[in-house]
Amino acid sequence: MAGLFQGKVAVVTGAGLGLGRAAAMAFAREGARVVVADIDSKNGQLTVDAIKKAGGEAMFIKTDVSREADVAAMVDKTVADYGRLDCAHNNVGIEELPHPITEGTEEQWYRLVDVDLKGIWLCLKHEIKYMENHGGGSIVNTSSIAGLIGAPGQAIYSACKWGVNGLTKSAAADYAKKGIRVNSVCPAGMKGTGFYKRMLANQPGMAEAVVRMVPLGRDSEPEEIAEAVIWLCSDRASYVTGAVMPIDGGFTVS
Ligand SMILES: NC(=O)c1ccc[n+]([C@@H]2O[C@H](COP(=O)([O-])OP(=O)(O)OC[C@H]3O[C@@H](n4cnc5c(N)ncnc54)[C@H](O)[C@@H]3O)[C@@H](O)[C@H]2O)c1
Repeated sequence: MAGLFQGKVAVVTGAGLGLGRAAAMAFAREGARVVVADIDSKNGQLTVDAIKKAGGEAMFIKTDVSREADVAAMVDKTVADYGRLDCAHNNVGIEELPHPITEGTEEQWYRLVDVDLKGIWLCLKHEIKYMENHGGGSIVNTSSIAGLIGAPGQAIYSACKWGVNGLTKSAAADYAKKGIRVNSVCPAGMKGTGFYKRMLANQPGMAEAVVRMVPLGRDSEPEEIAEAVIWLCSDRASYVTGAVMPIDGGFTVS
């Protein structure tokens, strides 16, 4: 397959479902060999099967992004099997059930922070370790509109997503001279994802309330966010680093 990533290798975390699957499919369509990293083997393998069925190349690596040993092993296996690592989409994020801060628990705090914030930091750490010694690369982290404004009832999630943007800008500043670009995308509601379905189930009326605040008047498809991920990772975005890009139908314009 010819394309933007011909001859390149891309890792996508959380690629078993939702945005990660859409991004993995898009990388493969553009010629990359894709590592589908997910804690869920069944869905991860389904993504690999879908990529292969469409004529692309991919492998699944079971990874819990909150565990350093898993993340290090995922990068090592990528390089061992595919010979290189050019692009990474650090995308895993889990949500919390809405609650007032006064009712939050330490358990909720650590669950979210471990996956949504430490997971991104661990991925950056191990991907950059390889990229800085092998000619650079490009990385996109998934943040959220909750990383640009407050998220009522989801203070821990929002703090993590602001943290993801902080990690993005810091890593961009630290590694620009090594040829590594680091950016983040900030989606609003993405239809059909596991995250979105759980939100509909747990917060009736929430999706409609969010859509009413979107100037474009609808939620996105995950593929619309994947487009930005692909562009940011590609050489077409060669002068873009440290960008925190809302892709939210205008949700955060005012
Ligand atoms: N869906 C939305 O409406 C929405 C809106 C804004 C931001 N986001 C962000 O987009 C990203 C992707 O969300 P999505 O909606 O596609 O989610 P999703 O729930 O559909 O998919 C998440 C994937 O991550 C995997 N995963 C969960 N914990 C993991 C772990 N510890 N290690 C490895 N894999 C793990 C799951 O198995 C799943 O395949 C997240 O960072 C989320 O915060 C989502």
